[in-house]
Amino acid sequence: MMGFRHVPAAELHLHIEGTLEPELIMELAARNGLTLPFPTLAQLRAQYEFTDLQSFLNLYYANMAVLRTEADFADMTRAYLARASAGGVRHAEIMFDPQAHVVRGVPLAAVVNGIASALAASEQEFGMTTGLIAAFLRDETEEDALEILEQLLAMDAPIIGIGLDSAEVGNPPTKFVRLYDRARAAGLHLIAHAGEEGPPSYVTDALDLLGVERIDHGIRSMEDPALVRRLAAEQVPLTVCPLSNVRLRAVDTLAEHPLPQMLAAGLNVCLNSDDPAYFGGHVDVNFAALETEFGFDADTVATLAGNSIRSSFADGDRKAALLTELQEWRTQQG
Ligand code: ADE
Ligand code: ZN
Repeated sequence: MMGFRHVPAAELHLHIEGTLEPELIMELAARNGLTLPFPTLAQLRAQYEFTDLQSFLNLYYANMAVLRTEADFADMTRAYLARASAGGVRHAEIMFDPQAHVVRGVPLAAVVNGIASALAASEQEFGMTTGLIAAFLRDETEEDALEILEQLLAMDAPIIGIGLDSAEVGNPPTKFVRLYDRARAAGLHLIAHAGEEGPPSYVTDALDLLGVERIDHGIRSMEDPALVRRLAAEQVPLTVCPLSNVRLRAVDTLAEHPLPQMLAAGLNVCLNSDDPAYFGGHVDVNFAALETEFGFDADTVATLAGNSIRSSFADGDRKAALLTELQEWRTQQG
């Protein structure tokens, strides 16, 4: 069966630095007068075979070297908005990694203002509403994260929440309790990566110790039946990224991805691209791959898209408008 075209959905798990396509890396390197370790497009492209999360993170952080100016961050963000909106994304909550840029000497204001300027024009340019989320690197210290969070608050950065990403195993949620307490006190939404490579206990701890409202990934929750029952009962949103999980070898093949079991268990799962420039595609490509692999019908596609809209931090009016659009899409599928 051919895939359903462009279901209207929200993207809730997206690292803006992971949207940096090889072509744009080349363009920004030239613009900023930088010499890359992999100077041709073909040489760069040859690096995109990953064995685990860390092997991806090494390239992901290295490629960020081309992001130097406010315009670089704005161009990268605009390219994502154009591509995502063409694939049906109507609302996106976008993570960025402030520490990964500040450590390279890029002013925090250039990062925030560049991304925010593109997001500010998004509704008019692309019909997409957005939210910006500062993600903190869990393989760095909590003190470093707290310092950057204070800077973001002091500059009144237009962030709606915080997240936790980078190398998971060995960097549990317990390390970041004070960071999440501070963000909660500042009125921010709270999310965290958990159960991507890390054990189910990290999911439990992210919920109970950090107080997160959503879990990014969460696929390893399936190893703990009691946790699965809890996630189903509480309808905790899990932002699942199937193509990412395949490319980072969290699962061997798409056929072995636990998404069908997660749906069958009544979990609140939605589909996301994570780092689309690295993992083979945006949200629409993730939908198409699952439709092909598992033969999902229009009701299942609509369930996944509805979960994404309801689990977003968009306001009530926006959610209602998007759910109406989704209902119209479902009717058109027959
Ligand atoms: N940073 C960017 N993508 C990530 C992922 N999939 N897991 C953890 N940290 C990340
Ligand atoms: Zn992620």
